[in-house]
Amino acid sequence: MKKIIVIDGGPRKTMNISKLVEAFCKGVKSKSEEIEVKHIRLYDYDYKGCYSCLACKVKDSKYLDVCAIKDGITEILKETAYADGLCIAAPIYFMDISAQTKAFIERLFYPWLDYNNICMNPPRQLFTTTIYAMNDSLPERVNEMLDRIEFPLRFAFGNDTNERVAALNTMQVKNYDRYDFGMFPKEMKEAWHEEHWTEDIKKAFDAGFNMAEKILG
Ligand SMILES: Cc1cc2nc3c(=O)[nH]c(=O)nc-3n(C[C@H](O)[C@H](O)[C@H](O)COP(=O)(O)O)c2cc1C
Repeated sequence: MKKIIVIDGGPRKTMNISKLVEAFCKGVKSKSEEIEVKHIRLYDYDYKGCYSCLACKVKDSKYLDVCAIKDGITEILKETAYADGLCIAAPIYFMDISAQTKAFIERLFYPWLDYNNICMNPPRQLFTTTIYAMNDSLPERVNEMLDRIEFPLRFAFGNDTNERVAALNTMQVKNYDRYDFGMFPKEMKEAWHEEHWTEDIKKAFDAGFNMAEKILG
């Protein structure tokens, strides 16, 4: 059975990333029930980023496909490396993906990095989707940031293979009256949400559908 791994790097189970991920999964299933979709919430696992042990870089290493470190994500790293599709969903924290997502990416991609041939050798060519949620509302700044964030994906799987879904200016909280969020007036947030959120969800759904279509050929 074909398999898509959804790496969910958001801590909140009922907010923006969760809803976008749910839409992505529904999009896959709307195309085919024959593709397994495994949703991994990184905050449920105990692990760290790359230890720089370099076991994947010693001569004749056995760890060129999956990180040598054994911890809470070892099996997930293995499953991801040999899946058909990978969706990475993350909230933006301080102009980057959440720390859990970054740590996962270090562990997944570093074993594939080949310092002799200056390339990445993933064991399989995965179809990828990235999903983000953030407060930022300036597309140019956001695209520049996301291009930087997606460098390992381009290096591993090539340019123009990733489908990106970025939800801008999200509702960070449900009730703005309760918080000291002077920079984000409630009316502005609600108006943006009204105008963009349905489309953001549709983009996530379509990305799931598109990935399923690509996997099925
Ligand atoms: C620690 C922290 C740092 C954040 N930094 C940024 C940031 O640099 N840029 C931005 O646009 N949003 C930032 N945000 C806002 C979140 O990206 C935004 O609320 C997003 O919707 C969170 O995803 P969630 O709703 O699924 O939890 C930050 C939020 C937190 C908690």
